[in-house]
Amino acid sequence: MPPYHRNPNSFEALKDQVFVLTGGARGVAESIVRYLFAARAHVFFGDIDQDGSDKVIAALRAQNPSATNSLVAIPFDARKYDDNLALFKAAYKTHGRVDHAISCAAVTESLNWYDESLNLGTIEAPPPTVIIDVNFTGVLYFARIAAVYLRQGNENGKDKSLTIVGSIASFKEQAGLFVYGPTKHGVMGLFRSTKSLMSKKYGIRINMVNPSHINTIMGSAVHDLWVAHGLPVNEAYHVAEHVLTLASTPKKPDGTVATGIAVYVEGGEGWDIEEDLDKTDHLWMGEEMSRNSAKIDIALGTGVSWKPTKE
Ligand SMILES: NC(=O)c1ccc[n+]([C@@H]2O[C@H](COP(=O)([O-])OP(=O)(O)OC[C@H]3O[C@@H](n4cnc5c(N)ncnc54)[C@H](O)[C@@H]3O)[C@@H](O)[C@H]2O)c1
Repeated sequence: MPPYHRNPNSFEALKDQVFVLTGGARGVAESIVRYLFAARAHVFFGDIDQDGSDKVIAALRAQNPSATNSLVAIPFDARKYDDNLALFKAAYKTHGRVDHAISCAAVTESLNWYDESLNLGTIEAPPPTVIIDVNFTGVLYFARIAAVYLRQGNENGKDKSLTIVGSIASFKEQAGLFVYGPTKHGVMGLFRSTKSLMSKKYGIRINMVNPSHINTIMGSAVHDLWVAHGLPVNEAYHVAEHVLTLASTPKKPDGTVATGIAVYVEGGEGWDIEEDLDKTDHLWMGEEMSRNSAKIDIALGTGVSWKPTKE
């Protein structure tokens, strides 16, 4: 897999850029907020933990009282369409544009949907769907709204990007994450299904960061397991740096647009998992199916020249 190197030197380019992101009260998104504020970007974030968000803002403002860049947390629940809308509206109203959007907020498994104690009686009660609502529906809402707000005023070729934080559970089995895993596969599906449309039609780069275990509150349940098995651990800032390197680096080293990249992050190091997967599909799909798959891509284009249902 080609390495993808995080590069904090590139964050200088983020000065005065307008960012919208989900999460921010703690963990990876908090680290992203800190880097953005330090880079003098304008930051509008939404986290269900409003107190936590306010504390992050107060601490950053106290560290640098002369900074004039926007740092705003709005009341936000990723599950609500209107809250996602309000986040983008707040940034747009203040600055007349949104340059970069980052979807980071998520929740993990709190109960086992497949618990062995379930029986013909207890299976009657439907399970909570909070993981699906936050990690999947909420991200679909966010991406839909981002596609409209990011493309406002980008006729002049201004760099615009959408970055989605997925997981190793977006592309590998992670036993025990029986609902989280499908939602994270789902956002990988969102990335794959919209990448041509976003970049070729709307001029929005779309990328993903898919970390292995991170040493945050969400990761605390498996932290000891990772350490006991000698597995590499990410810190929140490692993942934040990969996210912001994607946002701040519009071109790949070969000069092509930096879009359609899915970075796997393990122990602080990153690799693009998508490029080689595409390049090697003749090996795992077979020559003929690989050729047909390429033809299907051409036939479908950006997905707007045909209708999914026949009238
Ligand atoms: N921690 C890990 O081991 C790990 C591994 C792979 C991927 N990830 C992914 O990385 C991202 C960041 O995770 P983290 O480790 O920083 O987790 P975290 O639990 O530390 O932070 C998650 C944030 O999301 C917020 N949040 C939860 N529900 C919300 C809602 N309904 N609306 C708005 N905000 C909400 C929380 O308040 C919190 O601030 C997530 O997308 C997660 O799935 C985490």
